[in-house]
Amino acid sequence: MHPLEILEFPDPKLRTVATPVKKITDEIVKFTERLLFTMYGSSGIGLAASQVNFHQRIIAIDISESKDEPLILINPQITERAGEIESDEGCLSIPGFYEPVKRSSEISLEAIDVNGENFCLEATELLAICIQHEIDHLDGKLFVDYISKTKRQIIRKKLKKTNSSRPGVK
Ligand code: NI
Repeated sequence: MHPLEILEFPDPKLRTVATPVKKITDEIVKFTERLLFTMYGSSGIGLAASQVNFHQRIIAIDISESKDEPLILINPQITERAGEIESDEGCLSIPGFYEPVKRSSEISLEAIDVNGENFCLEATELLAICIQHEIDHLDGKLFVDYISKTKRQIIRKKLKKTNSSRPGVK
């Protein structure tokens, strides 16, 4: 299996709003496997379909230390939120940068699994943060949208420089 190419900020394609998955076809299932494979290969704890330029509402997550608890969320929807938590976030589409972001500390959500079954999930702390971060990707949002414009511009410039000095990466 080959990993999928991960788009990097400020690529405008990362701003695309993903559409709901209508049917869990074999292609969708295969895609979720490649999404997980790409996430593990990049040592990420979460990867949204939007980040690999596939604009349907699919998220891969694994926050376990042992990297053997994959979670696929299709059409995830947060139904309840509580509390607030601030932590340094990073993103595979914004490599090398970490900034503090405030999120809800507890969430309830509904989603569909790869078998097409609806399920509910309660998440707190890191899992809750990760899910909110990934759902943002599906809505075309990035964690840098929560920081100051100046900081965002600095990251944009630095990443542009890195990318132009690495021919073939993008
Ligand atoms: Ni991200």
